[in-house]
Amino acid sequence: MSLESGTYSKGLEGIIADETTICRVDGPHGKLFYRGYPIDDLARHSDFEEITYLLLYEKLPTAAELEEWRTRMRASRDIPIEVQIMIRTFPADAHPMQLLQSVIAYLSVYIKHTIQHSVHCNCRDTLHQIVQMASVVATSFRFRTAKAPYVSPRMDLSHGGNFLYMMRGTEPQDYEARIMDSCLVLHAEHEFNASTFTARVVASTMSTCYCSIAAAIGALFGQLHGGANERVLDMVEEIGTKEGVGAWMDKAIAEKRKVPGMGHREYKVRDPRSYVIEEYLKELSEKKGDGRYYGILKEIEKQFRERMEEKGKPVYPNVDFYSGAVYSLLGIPKILFTPVFAMARVAGWLAHVLEQREHGNRIYRPESLYKGPEERPYVPVQRRA
Ligand SMILES: CC(C)(COP(=O)(O)OP(=O)(O)OC[C@H]1O[C@@H](n2cnc3c(N)ncnc32)[C@H](O)[C@@H]1OP(=O)(O)O)[C@@H](O)C(=O)NCCC(=O)NCCS
Repeated sequence: MSLESGTYSKGLEGIIADETTICRVDGPHGKLFYRGYPIDDLARHSDFEEITYLLLYEKLPTAAELEEWRTRMRASRDIPIEVQIMIRTFPADAHPMQLLQSVIAYLSVYIKHTIQHSVHCNCRDTLHQIVQMASVVATSFRFRTAKAPYVSPRMDLSHGGNFLYMMRGTEPQDYEARIMDSCLVLHAEHEFNASTFTARVVASTMSTCYCSIAAAIGALFGQLHGGANERVLDMVEEIGTKEGVGAWMDKAIAEKRKVPGMGHREYKVRDPRSYVIEEYLKELSEKKGDGRYYGILKEIEKQFRERMEEKGKPVYPNVDFYSGAVYSLLGIPKILFTPVFAMARVAGWLAHVLEQREHGNRIYRPESLYKGPEERPYVPVQRRA
C-alpha cells in the first residue's frame, strides 16, 4: 500500500474502526457511560449481574427479567470436575492469566458450546464465560496459592461476593462483597481498547465467542494493558512510608520515571472511576483499621500533581491508582489483579463480540505500509557469499 491510497496511523491511533452503542468515553470531560448510563450511577446503584444484562441486551432489565437473569447466572457458577482437574494440574509456575486463557479455550470444548459460524451466537444463553471466569480465578487461588480444597459456589451471594467466598472459603462481610462487586462494574467495559479490539477482530472472522475471549485475555496479559495496579502497589511497597514519598518523588521526576496509576490516554481530567474507587479504599481502610496504603497513595497523588502542575502538565489518578490497594485490603494477592480485571472486562468483551457479529460484520483486514526491499532475484544457496 502507498500512503496515497490510505491513511497511516501507527497503533491505529485516531482511526475510527467501527460504530458502537455499548460504551462512550468522554475523555476531555472525564465521563464514562455504559449504554448511555453514567458510570458513577451504575457503580453506586447497580451491580455486576445487572450491568452484564445491560451490556448484553442493550437495556436495563425489569425486576422480573433481573430475577431470572440472576438465577441463570448463579446456576452457572460451579466448575465442572474436569476443569477443576485442569486447574489443579496446570504448571505451577504459569501465570494465572495463562491458566485463565487455557481454561476458557477448554471450557468451549467441555461445555459443548454450539460452534456457530453464523451471525447469531448462543453465548447470551450459556453465560459460562462470564460467570465461570470468576470461579476459575478464585479456584486457581485455592489450589495453587492457598493449597486448599475447592469451595462450591453459593447461590445467595452477589457475583463479587461469591468470588470472595470461593477464593477465601469464608463468607465476606456485606461491605466487602458490595465493594468487590462494584469494582467489577467499574472495570466491565471501556470501549475499543486493545483487548476489546482483539475480541472484535477474532469475532469478525466468525470464530467462536470462546476464541474471542481467550484472545482478549492474551491481549490483557501484556504489560502495556493490564497490570497498572500491580505496579502501583509495587511503588507503595518500595516507598514504605508516607514520609518517604518526597525523596522517592524527587528521584522519580529526575529520572523521568512514569508514576504508575497516574494519567490516562483518554481522560485529560480525572478518570471518573477513580472517585468511586478512592471512596472504597477510604471505607475499607477505616473498617479494617489499616490506613497505610491510603495514606501513602494520597501523599503520592498530592506531590505528583503539585510537581506536574508546576510544569504546566496536570496529570490525575486513573482507576488503577487505587484499585490495587482495594483488592489488597480484600485479601486478593497481586498476582490475581489482572485476572480480576479480566473477570470484570469479560462482560464488555462479550457485548462487543455480539455487536461485531450482529451489526453488519465485516472482517478486519487493514493494510500495511511496505518498507522492505524492492523486487530482487532469488540466489541459490551455493552462489551466496
Ligand atoms: C497512560 C499514559 C501512557 C498516558 O500518557 P500520555 O498520553 O503521554 O498522557 P498526556 O499527554 O496527558 O501526558 C502529558 C505529560 O505528562 C506526562 N505524564 C503523563 N502521565 C505520567 C505519569 N504517570 N508519570 C510521569 N509523567 C507522566 C507525559 O509524559 C507528558 O509529558 P511530556 O509532555 O513531557 O511528554 C501515561 O499517563 C502513563 O504511562 N501512566 C502510567 C501508567 C498507567 O497507569 N497506565 C494505565 C492507564 S489506565
